[in-house]
Amino acid sequence: MTQQEILNILGDVRHPGKGDKSVIELGMVKGVEVEGNRVTVTLSFPKHRDPLTEYLVGSTRATIIRAFGEGIEAEVKTVVEEAPAAAKKKSLDLDFSQVSGVKHIIGVASGKGGVGKSTVAVNLAIALARLGFKVGLADADVYGPSVPVMTATEGQTPLAENDGDKEWIMPIEKYGVKWMSIGYFAEKGQALIWRGPMACNALKQMVLQVVWGELDYLLIDMPPGTGDIHISLVQDIPMEGAVIVTTPQTVALADVEKGVNMFLNPGISKPVFGLVENMAWFTPEEHPDEKYYIFGKDGGRKMAEEMGIDLLGQIPLVQSIREGGDQGEPVALGTRPDGLAFISLAEALSSKLG
Ligand SMILES: Nc1ncnc2c1ncn2[C@@H]1O[C@H](COP(=O)(O)OP(=O)(O)OP(=O)(O)O)[C@@H](O)[C@H]1O
Ligand SMILES: [Mg+2]
Repeated sequence: MTQQEILNILGDVRHPGKGDKSVIELGMVKGVEVEGNRVTVTLSFPKHRDPLTEYLVGSTRATIIRAFGEGIEAEVKTVVEEAPAAAKKKSLDLDFSQVSGVKHIIGVASGKGGVGKSTVAVNLAIALARLGFKVGLADADVYGPSVPVMTATEGQTPLAENDGDKEWIMPIEKYGVKWMSIGYFAEKGQALIWRGPMACNALKQMVLQVVWGELDYLLIDMPPGTGDIHISLVQDIPMEGAVIVTTPQTVALADVEKGVNMFLNPGISKPVFGLVENMAWFTPEEHPDEKYYIFGKDGGRKMAEEMGIDLLGQIPLVQSIREGGDQGEPVALGTRPDGLAFISLAEALSSKLG
């Protein structure tokens, strides 16, 4: 009794639910092991509780015993394999074809929430575009997407394109930048509740399923924090490195360390291109030349020095930056000092990356 002999007779075991094709033709035989007078066959089923599982297991055993006699010990094992549709979806998530024309993919991250990461990411994207670069921004904050509001593109629906079994999403273009956000797919005012793997997939899709075309920079506004989602995102997306946003308070130092370590840890080892100190000082709207260091002076610079990373830019705390975000007209579109702070940041980053 050989493996080949067993395979030959398994051609007689037919699946009545699949046009009477044999288990061999259907690719259901995943293994045949022969040891003396003992044979073990493994059959795979595409879903749990295929109503014909019992029938096929019995029929396989009976066919083997009929061919080789009662002295044979025949065991039939079953395994459940992912349906082909699910398998395809998996490969789609990690299909890098849409980012193959992107020169630099950069994560914009922070150790903790609310430090102005999205404000910096959106303004930096616009500032890079104003310097003449081709830029895209993926809002990967599945918990609180901010790009639609900050660019006044709420209510727009990205077009989808079918290419065989794949679906590609067209980004929204405005202010010279290509934008993508999970917010475009949510009902207005509806809270997005994503957990674990679902959140991971959603944000990978925001990067990999979008038709970015040729870009110099693709910024990724990462969700706040440094959890599993972040690690999975940084590992699965061909990110070149990161920019970390912080505020100058000394209490923020520990969070920055967490943010930086997330990229430097051995499983990930991506460079941190630098720190952006947001709300570095306060400037009243009516006195644009005054600087009040309400959180202490140069906290960000010291932090950067301590950690041995560059300080790429300092952004003041000014009312117009918040208003620009709320009204969907980011300050980086203008030429006032608040906007120019983002232009210098864009210059620092682009000269660092070449
Ligand atoms: N430099 C600044 N001057 C004035 N307001 C600012 C500045 N930076 C951010 N803000 C305001 O602070 C609030 C939080 O900013 P933002 O949403 O960018 O933070 P975030 O780090 O992305 O938050 P989250 O962690 O929730 O994603 C917003 O209302 C924004 O307009
Ligand atoms: Mg944000």
